[in-house]
Amino acid sequence: MSNVGVEVPTEVAADGMELRMGIAIAKLEAWMRDYYHKVDHDIGSSGVRDLSMAELRALCGFEMSELDSLVLHDSEAYGGPGLRTALADRWTGGDVDPVMVTHGSSEAIYIVMHTLLNPGDEVIVVDPAYQQLYDIAQSRGCRITRWPLRADQGFAPDLELLRKLAASGPRMIVVNFPHNPTGVSITAEQQDELIAIAAESGAWLVWDNAFGEMTYASAPLRLPHDRYDKVISFGTLSKSYGLAGMRVGWCLAPRRLHEEMAVLRDYIALYVSPVLEFFAEKAVRNADRIVALQREHAGANLKILLEWAADIPELVRVTPPAGSVTTFVEFPQLPDVERSCRKLAEEHRVLLVPGMCFGDDFSSYARLGFGGTTTELTAGLTALEQVLREDSRMAAGR
Ligand SMILES: Cc1ncc(COP(=O)(O)O)c(C=O)c1O
Repeated sequence: MSNVGVEVPTEVAADGMELRMGIAIAKLEAWMRDYYHKVDHDIGSSGVRDLSMAELRALCGFEMSELDSLVLHDSEAYGGPGLRTALADRWTGGDVDPVMVTHGSSEAIYIVMHTLLNPGDEVIVVDPAYQQLYDIAQSRGCRITRWPLRADQGFAPDLELLRKLAASGPRMIVVNFPHNPTGVSITAEQQDELIAIAAESGAWLVWDNAFGEMTYASAPLRLPHDRYDKVISFGTLSKSYGLAGMRVGWCLAPRRLHEEMAVLRDYIALYVSPVLEFFAEKAVRNADRIVALQREHAGANLKILLEWAADIPELVRVTPPAGSVTTFVEFPQLPDVERSCRKLAEEHRVLLVPGMCFGDDFSSYARLGFGGTTTELTAGLTALEQVLREDSRMAAGR
């Protein structure tokens, strides 16, 4: 776990403070910091419609007075027994051993990468990807090999290519299906093949299941743990449940890895608050009801989005997503997508995420999220269409 051999560049700011620049700025989160709280309509996020506490109570059937008996002592490093058992019942056939409760899946990603990776290790990562899935490894001094989802093939995963890449025997293969930002996924047969590729190369398979429950055309994929032992999966209440503000996620992994992870966690957050665990347990116990509601709502919004895009093919190209609540759209006539996204946020108070947040190769794309309310989706699309028309006209000199 040592950082020996990794150069951590530093920079001295104008006020003389030395800044550690060993890790890249998380561009998506930086964009959100700038705009998320300053807009009226969000068509950029990857979450579904946020639930109020009253809605959560009604869906799960509990009263706030139940909290009165909660004693505010420490919870446990791997999660309190109530939430851990609820997660085990939903995901691991009742076995609590592989379950660790974390502050969102972000905390799990951070700790896993720091626990398992050493400088020089090769990590294969689907590309594009949520930045934390590769830049933490990069900051550890790992060699990052991209497994590209090719835009000219509708971002369809190319498993033959992955097989070739994995022949080098990487330490880790990191994937996320349904995928953020494109919404593409793989079939159950392709998932078997992916697991076989990881097993043949001996790599740890990191399966980010943030959107695993949010699929449209087919049933959710099974977690890969039953087919390979070196699997780590992440789950979260932030995406398919509408409970992002809860900051509760989980990591499913072999117990011996969690024991290692706890060593680092002891220096960070120690455990998740029992108050959060109380609500999270209710949500996990009622997950089917919550997710079904959100899926139905997101599915109806997706229809609206696809109809909108079909009417203006000269301005927008959409690959219909198989799951999640985002799609990576292309604007063929826009010269500068980031500038148009800033204009959309600053002049129309509508949030869209420019593709550059997923890497320089994607600057002509934007992530469009359709998981919010139908009102904000339609208001957001109306404003977006106006900006697309204005900026395209300007680019054409008309
Ligand atoms: C693919 C993916 N994984 C993990 C996360 C982290 O989410 P959280 O920390 O809220 O669980 C995100 C957030 O956007 C994501 O898109």
